[in-house]
Amino acid sequence: MNILLLGSGGREHAIAHKIAQSPQCSQLYIAPGNAGTAAEGENVALDMMDFEAVGAFALDHRVEMLVVGPEAPLVAGIADHFAATPALKHIMVIGPSKQGAMLEGSKDYAKAFMQRHAIPTARYQTFTADTLAEGERFLETLQAPYVLKADGLAAGKGVLIEPDLATAKAHLREMLGGKFGDASASVVIEEYLDGIELSVFVLTDGNHYLVLPEAKDYKRIGEGDTGLNTGGMGSVSPVPFADKAFMKKVEDRIVKPTVRGLKEEHIDYCGFIFIGLMNCGGDPYVIEYNVRMGDPETESVFPRIKSDVVHLFEQAAQGNLDGCTLEVDSRTAACVMMVAGGYPEGYRKGDTIDLGEENDVQVFHCGTKRDADGRLLTAGGRVICTTALASTLPEALLKSYYRANNIVWEGKYLRRDIGQDLLKIIQEG
Ligand code: AMP
Ligand code: GLY
Repeated sequence: MNILLLGSGGREHAIAHKIAQSPQCSQLYIAPGNAGTAAEGENVALDMMDFEAVGAFALDHRVEMLVVGPEAPLVAGIADHFAATPALKHIMVIGPSKQGAMLEGSKDYAKAFMQRHAIPTARYQTFTADTLAEGERFLETLQAPYVLKADGLAAGKGVLIEPDLATAKAHLREMLGGKFGDASASVVIEEYLDGIELSVFVLTDGNHYLVLPEAKDYKRIGEGDTGLNTGGMGSVSPVPFADKAFMKKVEDRIVKPTVRGLKEEHIDYCGFIFIGLMNCGGDPYVIEYNVRMGDPETESVFPRIKSDVVHLFEQAAQGNLDGCTLEVDSRTAACVMMVAGGYPEGYRKGDTIDLGEENDVQVFHCGTKRDADGRLLTAGGRVICTTALASTLPEALLKSYYRANNIVWEGKYLRRDIGQDLLKIIQEG
């Protein structure tokens, strides 16, 4: 089977690495890819938002499966474009329809969906510039801290957690006044959930589902979870507090009603559901849905999947996931992200990377490229990450950090405390 994977991050390198191992994959194309994916298949210079160009490439190269990494093409309707184009509709698309992608594309849509299907989530209301006064009154009924969310996609920056009422009101006014452009024309205000966060991943055919390994992500730039938000500075899978009993609650209260809800509402959905959860005293609440895998969670989740992912994708596209089981490596995966100096603000690009000595730790590329002479250069904020598997979390961390320390470039930065909060949880039993 010829497969085309869209995206260019560490997530796509980790997905490409698994696809390339499948006996069912004869040729893998990655568009646009990075220097790491070039070693798993052939990178193609395609604009993934140009659906005509993606479709033309797929036809020319007899692509039979399209795997969509990031949300933007899904929210813009790439799956619908393939389904509605006679020459393309035989191609299996791993990624939901435009309507399914609204679960990520609109926070108000996602909250209303959860409410319709009695899925546990924070109490909320949505406001526009016309209802600013009601929004202020709703804030007065809540307690600090206050959570404001731009309805639309805002490059991961659309959520504000405000310490006091005056700031919350001021920022509500700014958001409705266009702080995030169209994305904040509507703003969701919701109750603050106090707990530990966790990322749960589901592969669904729109009717049946498989729960993939869960992971924990480290979002802030600074140690101890301080400083600016980033795309993610590391991840760990499995998550010690997500034991069988907790994951059963997640499946019964969240995964099942979500998949049932999609089906009841006749929403075409073949792909991933990424459920951002808060564990509040042992009970799971949904913070958000994403319609794709997480980055850098994929870099610790996919290395633990032993099953042939191309087979699973094919079964999902055919609506046959009920006949599938998932084989998971019981070891712990720890992923450490290395970023360019200055990230997540203005950062350096074009520095030469020395990859150091290879060992059994996986190195996934994020923002990298090769110049005309084949030299490996930094080309993004998150540059490269290392994922180690070991029978315990401390060992996995040790191996991952050891490998990360051997990768060098000017200005490289990494957090030294990935997984430390989980070690504490393990020690405290
Ligand atoms: P999101 O963009 O929806 O992932 O939100 C960004 C981050 O804000 C989440 O990862 C949480 O850490 C935090 N957050 C969002 N909603 C809430 C909430 N209701 N209570 C507490 N924290 C939240
Ligand atoms: N790691 C969080 C995300 O991919 O959105």
